[in-house]
Amino acid sequence: MLTINPSGKTIPSTEGMSILEALLAAGEKIAHKCEGKAECGSCHIFVTEGRKTLSKTQRLENEKLDTLVGVSSNSRLACQAKLGNENVTVELL
Ligand code: FES
Repeated sequence: MLTINPSGKTIPSTEGMSILEALLAAGEKIAHKCEGKAECGSCHIFVTEGRKTLSKTQRLENEKLDTLVGVSSNSRLACQAKLGNENVTVELL
């Protein structure tokens, strides 16, 4: 299950699907200007629960996050973070 804040909406999460894909499939509005290539940073989200179940942050994502303002230790790019088999809660910005 993927919980989306601040709306509190929950949607099914499919293992191996990126958070961006899951959000878009559920009709959520989230910016994704580069269409998931880790280039634009517009899909920046906070993961408040379930970080460990997500795919590890790779170099491209890390490099992009380093250039963004307001990044925290909970930050991920929704297009790069793939869902695992545990519940995840995200905070849209
Ligand atoms: S959609 Fe551009 S970095 Fe995720």
